[in-house]
Amino acid sequence: MQTIVEVLPDKSALIERSLEIVLTKIEAAIAQRDIATIALAGGSTPKPLYEKLAEQDLPWKKIHVFWGDERYVPADHPDSNEGMARRAWLDQVPLPAANIHPMPTDASDPAAAAAQHEAEVQAFFTISTGTFPAFDIILLGIGDDGHTASLFPHTDALQVRDRLITVGNKDGQPRLTFTAPLINQAHAVLFLVAGASKRPALNHIFAPEDDDTLYPARLIQPQGELWWLLDEAAGEE
Ligand code: 6PG
Repeated sequence: MQTIVEVLPDKSALIERSLEIVLTKIEAAIAQRDIATIALAGGSTPKPLYEKLAEQDLPWKKIHVFWGDERYVPADHPDSNEGMARRAWLDQVPLPAANIHPMPTDASDPAAAAAQHEAEVQAFFTISTGTFPAFDIILLGIGDDGHTASLFPHTDALQVRDRLITVGNKDGQPRLTFTAPLINQAHAVLFLVAGASKRPALNHIFAPEDDDTLYPARLIQPQGELWWLLDEAAGEE
């Protein structure tokens, strides 16, 4: 694993830098394998990045979009990560519908939805159970509590090591999420972190020793590159 930490002057510079890195990684993946796979973060931080990606002229047919986690709501719900990315980016570009792989949130049982999406990911990468595919890029954020994706502190999802997709739990609300082992298989993981409210969690995440179950972002140690893009408010220390 190679870790790169960059502190940018403000959020706009952070977004510009993340765009540069994402475009470079997409181009390299297509040059190497004629396809690029990216898993998106939800929340608010990455939205301006998605809006800038919508302005790009890319080989859209060769790009496949997944989500690293999803709230268990329909795509048209204001909390939906899929809905946010579609409005900000995916609906604005000629990306084939078959290249968009949202997490299903229509089953009554989130565990069944997680298993369904796992099967979809396995089929896409033509792999069998027990194999973890390597996404080219996985975008992540962190919550003020140190969670990432929907891997929340002291939840069962943190212990799942033999699945690609599992059910997360935020204060009793179900989420679907990539597992830590799936995220850690990525060629490149990019954390985008902005705002002073993230600073306390970052101190615990970057500490040599601390509680991984209390600060789940500590579990993210990818075999590829680990990028931390912070604005000064978050990363000054
Ligand atoms: C989600 C995200 C989550 C997010 C962090 C940071 O579904 O909410 O995947 O992990 O990245 O909560 O959210 P902000 O970017 O809004 O601070």
